[in-house]
Amino acid sequence: MVDSLRGRTVLVTGAGQGIGRAIAVEMARQGASAVAVADLHETAARETAELVRAAGAGAEAIVCDLRVRDSIADMVERTARRFGGLDVLVNNAGVIETAFTAAPDRAVDTLAEEVWDAVYEVNLKAVWLTTKFAAPYLCRSSRGPAIVNTASVSGLTGFRNAPAYGVTKAGVIHLTKVTAVDLAPVRCNCFCPGVIDTPLAQDHFAAAPDRDAMERELTAPQLVKRLGRPEEVAKLACFLSCDDAAFITGSSYVIDGGALAWRGTGN
Ligand SMILES: NC(=O)c1ccc[n+]([C@@H]2O[C@H](COP(=O)([O-])OP(=O)(O)OC[C@H]3O[C@@H](n4cnc5c(N)ncnc54)[C@H](O)[C@@H]3O)[C@@H](O)[C@H]2O)c1
Repeated sequence: MVDSLRGRTVLVTGAGQGIGRAIAVEMARQGASAVAVADLHETAARETAELVRAAGAGAEAIVCDLRVRDSIADMVERTARRFGGLDVLVNNAGVIETAFTAAPDRAVDTLAEEVWDAVYEVNLKAVWLTTKFAAPYLCRSSRGPAIVNTASVSGLTGFRNAPAYGVTKAGVIHLTKVTAVDLAPVRCNCFCPGVIDTPLAQDHFAAAPDRDAMERELTAPQLVKRLGRPEEVAKLACFLSCDDAAFITGSSYVIDGGALAWRGTGN
């Protein structure tokens, strides 16, 4: 068993499914003592908490709406009180335009203001607020405190029909840098996934007029010809959280099957 996160207390947002669930479980596998599993949906959070316990860590399912300031403050307080502090924060939850609106209302010139605000509040403002509320606990941690943010390749290059998503993910990449600067020696890094097989990605494919064409379009530029797996992303998140990454802070890591390595089409 790898025990690179031995004894760490961890908070993962958006941990009810997808990448967040995989991160919560992998943290437990790698020796974390306790994982707070936060999500908008209680049943999903409870299911992940069960998986975390089965993987050997303590777990607390916390219902939190990241669009509500007091809910974020309560999530952090509950985690710290329940586990006696906080060593690792994973700001993972994220939403994309397709969750709120149908085509053709997802372009820069057609997006509704309330959709922009919803995506911004979850993807960027909540990452900052959670970091702000968690900072006093992380700064007191003597177990290599770290923050890991989930950004996206959409924050590095332009994609059609997800303007708020891309802009907020670019914001997460920069927020990662300023957080690393302001909170050092607490480390802060982010990772930028490409297309990962989660409910978010599957819903995004399904929202297109031709589901399979959308999946092909997004995966065609990859050098590794398949969807990424949440478990692969989780291993990167765990590495960035642990002492093996002690010299890494303020950085972003692309995990995209090679899509951004070239300007290829895959044809
Ligand atoms: N799947 C991909 O291809 C992909 C690619 C790049 C980046 N990402 C990023 O990875 C992260 C996880 O994505 P995923 O694919 O696992 O998504 P997902 O939709 O499968 O899971 C996201 C979780 O966040 C929760 N959530 C959403 N809004 C919330 C809110 N207001 N308050 C609290 N929780 C909320 C959801 O309930 C859900 O459990 C996101 O930040 C996403 O932008 C995903």
